[in-house]
Amino acid sequence: MKIKSAELLITAGRPDQYPEEGKFEVAFAGRSNVGKSSLINSLINRKSLARTSGQPGKTQTINFYEINKEIRIVDLPGYGYARVSKTSREKWAKMIEAYFKVRKSLVEVILLVDIRHEPGEHDKMMYDWIKSCGFNGIIIATKADKISRGNWLKHINIIANKLGVENKEFIIPYSASKHTNRDKVWETINELVEI
Ligand code: GTP
Ligand code: MG
Repeated sequence: MKIKSAELLITAGRPDQYPEEGKFEVAFAGRSNVGKSSLINSLINRKSLARTSGQPGKTQTINFYEINKEIRIVDLPGYGYARVSKTSREKWAKMIEAYFKVRKSLVEVILLVDIRHEPGEHDKMMYDWIKSCGFNGIIIATKADKISRGNWLKHINIIANKLGVENKEFIIPYSASKHTNRDKVWETINELVEI
């Protein structure tokens, strides 16, 4: 996909702050530090439009990006970071739940998991929640550069088993540092938004 423009529309905490409904959007969910913001930067060919960090908990709001004035991609705050208060966890849950529930333009929530590790209980809950909302359940297995290509399938099988993914084609290995499978992810997004 040729990126002609990419801009951060807004960082929102509440539904009244979301951009107007209309253009279809795809959101990225996953635990803190899994690589959601890095994936977005890689997809749009920018080093740091989405803020990233080695410290988990960087993204705290729902960040809406608009690409080529026609697609929106949404960076969600991560979960599962241990050093977070109960109040912040509750705030996170309310924010995400409201977004999933009210947002008509949201066509898919793509779950990110680290290719190296078996998904945890929070990932499983998130995946089940995504599926129960009626989304397809597409998964991106991040940091694929950290293991050899020959081992990808073994790790994809572990992820599929843990989360209960029927179709392994739905699990896409990705490396934000090497842009591996960038075209494949764009194809998937374009199919979802029917461009
Ligand atoms: P929160 O905003 O805290 O929810 O995290 P996030 O999911 O947005 O993660 P972020 O993109 O900030 O990345 C976390 C760390 O993982 C950073 O140090 C990134 O450089 C690193 N990282 C992300 N993607 C990749 C990847 O594909 N390969 C490698 N090697 N490192 C990556
Ligand atoms: Mg982030």
